[in-house]
Amino acid sequence: MADRIALTITRRKLTEILMGLVALFLTVSVVAAILKYLWPQTSSVSEASMVRITAVDDVPVGITGKPFVFHGKAALLLHMPAGFRCFGAVCTHLGCIVNSKLDDGDILCPCHLSRFDPNTGAVISGPAPSRLPTIDVEVREGTIYALKWKDLAYVISIPFYAGAA
Ligand code: FES
Repeated sequence: MADRIALTITRRKLTEILMGLVALFLTVSVVAAILKYLWPQTSSVSEASMVRITAVDDVPVGITGKPFVFHGKAALLLHMPAGFRCFGAVCTHLGCIVNSKLDDGDILCPCHLSRFDPNTGAVISGPAPSRLPTIDVEVREGTIYALKWKDLAYVISIPFYAGAA
């Protein structure tokens, strides 16, 4: 006669095991999300993450910038007398897209008239609570590339690009 192994798990024990697995899953998920957020960004920029904006000749020094999309968010390249400046184009007030043409020398949000410094992205006036995020750019053989967001943690809070400026 074959021996039988009886394995009995009470309903209470089964519930404890399931609750333990759920708690373990949630803990691992939260820890993974925190580590992903805090993990230092690599300083090198991979070629794959670079975005070609345009040719240098297409953005003359002046009041009209070049709108583009960088990693799913609206962005704006300006050619100032001091060099190229590049910012996220989503207004930090309520998320409108700023104008690509400077207004009295400022970046203007048409929704509630926030003004930003075209050299630094800093708020000059209006309800915008903080400056436009900066994007590093590089010129290679006559072409301008967007490399990376300078302040990634801030950019994560900006809504995704939904339309052209
Ligand atoms: S959304 Fe730009 S000023 Fe309000």
